[in-house]
Amino acid sequence: MSAFYRRSAIYAAFFAPSDDIRRSIDALVRKHLRGAPKRVIDPACGPGLWLEHFHRGGAEVAGCDLEESAIAGANERLPKRGARALVGDMRRPPDELGAEFDCAINLDNSIGHLNDPLDVVAHFASMRQRLSRRGIYVIGLAIREAKDTIPTGIVFERGPVDIAGGGFAALRTESLGLDKVTRCERIRQITITANVPDTPAVIAEQYDLLTFTFAMLKDILDAAGGFEVLDCRDATDEDLPKKPFRKGAGDVVLVLRAKDPAGKVVRKAATKPARAAPRRTPSKR
Ligand SMILES: C[S@@+](CC[C@H](N)C(=O)[O-])C[C@H]1O[C@@H](n2cnc3c(N)ncnc32)[C@H](O)[C@@H]1O
Repeated sequence: MSAFYRRSAIYAAFFAPSDDIRRSIDALVRKHLRGAPKRVIDPACGPGLWLEHFHRGGAEVAGCDLEESAIAGANERLPKRGARALVGDMRRPPDELGAEFDCAINLDNSIGHLNDPLDVVAHFASMRQRLSRRGIYVIGLAIREAKDTIPTGIVFERGPVDIAGGGFAALRTESLGLDKVTRCERIRQITITANVPDTPAVIAEQYDLLTFTFAMLKDILDAAGGFEVLDCRDATDEDLPKKPFRKGAGDVVLVLRAKDPAGKVVRKAATKPARAAPRRTPSKR
């Protein structure tokens, strides 16, 4: 799908998570799990940068990605024990990755690559099946309303930077704006490389990232079986300050938890068998 994503070493050189964002994500996860995660899944894991982070923190990790070469990069990066990365589609991550994850992580609007809202429903529905009862899903996405516009122009520019394995590269990412019909932001990305083995001097490509109106996102979460939004943070600041979950919220990191089949969010694991509820006397009218 993306020539850039196929180049794991180049992707990692530009998008390895900074110390600040690692700290902020760890704090967010620990707040909602009341401790460190034990099993983490990234359904669009790329070269496994976040999986590596959580594995170092002591978690078992698993992930999938559409790109074979990204998975090859992840398997080089990750240790053999306690980590698994497979080629697979986030619409239905491979069953072999397992279930009962207490944390799923999917940042940087990777879900936007699913351009069709029905695919996003399929994704959330299958993530519900992967998560443990009190598991959380930490996801980055963009909430934009029909009236919202995005300034076109450069959104990211960096380089040249050294590439592991040799050579160097520079990257420019531009937004070409939001299509009001498809709800997608069109991105143009140009990578210029020098002396990077087996890599063209210029990688130029264009792709679309789905954005969500507030109403559309709530409908999608309901259609997928129901998720509660436990937290909403501003994804444009690596400290991840709190942000109201509302219309036009922009680029956010959400913390979601599946509602149980009766539609209630699972807040606390029962420690004792519940006592039978006292019978209510019908009120007199
Ligand atoms: C922005 S990268 C994020 C990688 C990784 N999660 C990280 O944080 O470093 C987006 C990734 O989504 C992957 N991707 C796109 N569509 C996908 C799909 N349908 N299923 C699985 N992965 C997909 C791309 O190949 C790419 O590696």
